[in-house]
Amino acid sequence: MTDPAGPRPVSDNIVAATGAVDAAARRAAYGHGAATVWFTGLSGSGKSTIAAAVEEALVAAGVHASVLDGDNVRFGLNRDLGFSPEDRTENIRRIGEVCRLFCDAGAVVLSAFISPYRADRAAVRALHDDGDPAHPFLEVHVDTPLEVCEERDVKGLYARARAGDIPEFSGVSAPYEPPTGPELRLDTSRLDLAACVAAVLDLLAARDVTARDA
Ligand code: ADX
Repeated sequence: MTDPAGPRPVSDNIVAATGAVDAAARRAAYGHGAATVWFTGLSGSGKSTIAAAVEEALVAAGVHASVLDGDNVRFGLNRDLGFSPEDRTENIRRIGEVCRLFCDAGAVVLSAFISPYRADRAAVRALHDDGDPAHPFLEVHVDTPLEVCEERDVKGLYARARAGDIPEFSGVSAPYEPPTGPELRLDTSRLDLAACVAAVLDLLAARDVTARDA
């Protein structure tokens, strides 16, 4: 049987350790639960902007929240990875593991990566959905149409991709597979930032991660 979390460690001589602090103890101490909020969508769709605004609102409410952002992680942890399908899969696998670690530390992690492949996102979901509700995986599809992302072209990358300067650019010369059953769908060409933030905060409250007034 295939382990949903992926292949076994290279070494056989690995034994998982367990600490003395469980998720319930963390919830009692911090006053909120943990979660991975997984924003997925095209470059320029608004993932990072929404994630940053949600982070700000949560931290202001006393919630341990932190953003993991595509461009930033590629300067450090994943600086060895490019944009081939294999590298994107490895990018998302590592980020998924980091998200799970954030959850285990009792935090709400807001991840903002294109994560274009359904199978890669499903693997991260499986890493969270192990039967323990202490670390829900909440997929948020930032479903802004390609034309709008391209018109915004905040980083000038779409123009360069269309000119053939950037190969394998998501939505232009590489695929983006939209989620079929995300927990939330947001189109930033129809909703303003405040409405998007409110929808994510409502989702966290509805899933009992945060209190209603957080
Ligand atoms: S992912 O596909 O592996 O999830 P990730 O979110 O880490 O991508 O990085 C996407 C960011 O890298 C984009 O917002 C953009 O700024 C930049 N980028 C550079 N080259 C590409 C490319 N070929 N396709 C998509 N994004 C790219």
